[in-house]
Amino acid sequence: MGRILLTGAYGMIGRYLRSELGNACLPVSRSELDISDLYAFEKILTQKKIKWVINCAGSAHGNELDIFKLNAFYPQEMAKVCSRLNVGFVFLSSARVFGTGNGPFYEDNPPRPFDNYGLSKFLGEQFITREMYEGRYYIFRISMVLGTSGHKAESQFLTRLMLKGEKGEDVKAAIDSETSVVHAGCVAKSIADCLESGRPNGIYHIAGLDCISSYDLTKSVFDKLELKGNVLPGKAGDFSTFQPPLPLIQGLASGRLPHCGTCLDAIDKFCEERKKGCANHSATL
Ligand SMILES: NC(=O)c1ccc[n+]([C@@H]2O[C@H](COP(=O)([O-])OP(=O)(O)OC[C@H]3O[C@@H](n4cnc5c(N)ncnc54)[C@H](OP(=O)(O)O)[C@@H]3O)[C@@H](O)[C@H]2O)c1
Repeated sequence: MGRILLTGAYGMIGRYLRSELGNACLPVSRSELDISDLYAFEKILTQKKIKWVINCAGSAHGNELDIFKLNAFYPQEMAKVCSRLNVGFVFLSSARVFGTGNGPFYEDNPPRPFDNYGLSKFLGEQFITREMYEGRYYIFRISMVLGTSGHKAESQFLTRLMLKGEKGEDVKAAIDSETSVVHAGCVAKSIADCLESGRPNGIYHIAGLDCISSYDLTKSVFDKLELKGNVLPGKAGDFSTFQPPLPLIQGLASGRLPHCGTCLDAIDKFCEERKKGCANHSATL
């Protein structure tokens, strides 16, 4: 598959891809390559003889314009450069493209994004598909990923609740809404396998076998890690920042890739890593 440029390499998924890809990958942080800098991007592609780009730079947070730039407009421009230089492009999308539908969603289900993040990822998918039409590309949709997360521990609801639980505070999680969770190690392996095996261009879901409620997910993590706070059941509508509230089952399923096991498998792996203090995670939570 040749040399791979990994952007956003020091974020959560990036760190697992670095370890999965080893010497095949050239990891770059934002300070080494900001993805808005197309001149620098093209220079690295040509100087380092890059064959694939895996773009892990992206965000669900920030103001509207930043979200659209990072998840759609910058990747579009990167894909144009890749197409011109005959370099493959990997784009990471999200279950949020399904917006108000009820899952679990397969690759063939029609997206219906409604919030800025889901819409930006959907737009990103459309741009990549168009720009890479004559090239090589993969779009991977992922739901919630569990892994050691670098420095942005507060960005996921679970890690926010864990922070409180560690301090002995009680937390509430929705018992009536479900998602699917996968471990970041499986995300990295699925992406690496796809590149290695040369699957056809297209959209792939990286997903497990089942879904889990936010309450069961949080309770299971708190129990396994023996966090001091209690987990109390709540209703999705109590915390939803979305209007209308997110659907009750937001998870993904895949009809195209091998599955990542059950949600409990992902939780077990995540908790094992946490217990081992893997990747200095205790310093970040
Ligand atoms: N984690 C999940 O549950 C999940 C689920 C579905 C999809 N995804 C998608 O998967 C991708 C990676 O997610 P993640 O969880 O690894 O995110 P993450 O931990 O927040 O990492 C994102 C990385 O992107 C970098 N970055 C941000 N803006 C950049 C820019 N302009 N140029 C270069 N790098 C930039 C960040 O660098 P700084 O730290 O310097 O800002 C960070 O290292 C994202 O596109 C995300 O939307 C994630």
